[in-house]
Amino acid sequence: MSAYREGFGWNEATERLFKPARISEGHTVADFGCGPGKISVEIGKQVGSDGHVHAIDINAEFLEIARENAVAAGVSDRLTTHLKDGVSLPLSNSSLDRISARNAIMYVDDPLHTLREFHRVLRPGGLAHAIDGDWYMMVAEPIAHDAWRAFVEAASHACRNSDMGRKLYAAFVDAGFQDVDVSIVANADVDGRLLGMVRNMAKYAVESGTIDPAKVERVIAQVEQAHCEGEYLVVSPQFVVTGRKAD
Ligand SMILES: C[S@@+](CC[C@H](N)C(=O)[O-])C[C@H]1O[C@@H](n2cnc3c(N)ncnc32)[C@H](O)[C@@H]1O
Repeated sequence: MSAYREGFGWNEATERLFKPARISEGHTVADFGCGPGKISVEIGKQVGSDGHVHAIDINAEFLEIARENAVAAGVSDRLTTHLKDGVSLPLSNSSLDRISARNAIMYVDDPLHTLREFHRVLRPGGLAHAIDGDWYMMVAEPIAHDAWRAFVEAASHACRNSDMGRKLYAAFVDAGFQDVDVSIVANADVDGRLLGMVRNMAKYAVESGTIDPAKVERVIAQVEQAHCEGEYLVVSPQFVVTGRKAD
C-alpha cells in the first residue's frame, strides 16, 4: 500500500504508455484496476470538466485513496469510483469513449471475459487500451539464465497471468476488437526503480515453496550487489495494446 501511495504516478514514461489510448477532452473513460487512482486523476485532467472518469477496482481501500487523490487534484467533480465485486463491469452498454487498464488484466481470473466486458461498455468506435508486462520476458543482469528463469517461475503464482503481455493481442481479437495494435515499451532500469518489484518477486518465490530459498537469496544478493556497484540492469517490457469497437 505504501509503495502504491508513493509511486506509480504520472511521468514521461507513463505518458508514452498512454499515448495510444488517444484520450481527449470531453471523453468518458474507465480506468479498470485503477489502484490508488493516480492514472484516473491524470485522465480526469485530460478529459476536462466536460468529460468523466470511472475508476474501477476490487479493492475498497484503493478506491478510498483514489477519491482522496481526486479531491487533492481538484478533479473529484468528474470522477466516480466503483467497487467491482462480480465478474461484470458496473457500467452500461456503449457508455464509454475509452477504457484503459494498466497492469490489471494480468490479475483477473478470466482475461477474455474482462475484455468482452470492455467491448460491451464501449460505444461503437470507442477504444480499449491495455498495458501489461510479461514476467518471462524480464531481464535482470547479472543473473544467469537458469537461475533467473527458476526465480520467475517460482514467483509467477502471485499473478494469475504472468505472461499476459504476449497474450493481450489474441485476447483483444477474440473479444471482438478491430484494428488491434501492439507495441512493446522496454526501458532499461539502471537506477533501481524496479528493485522493489524484484524484491516482491523474491517474496512470492519463497512463499511458493517450489524453490530452494537459498537460490532466491542468491538472486537478490547478486542484484543488490550489482546495484551497489553500478552494474545493475533490469528490463520489464510492457505490451501496449489498443483495439477499436466496430462502428
Ligand atoms: C498492479 S495494480 C495497478 C494499479 C494501476 N492500474 C496502476 O497502474 O497504477 C493492479 C490493480 O488491479 C486491481 N485488480 C486486481 N484484480 C482485479 C479485478 N478482477 N477487477 C478489478 N480490479 C482488479 C488491484 O486491486 C490493483 O489495484
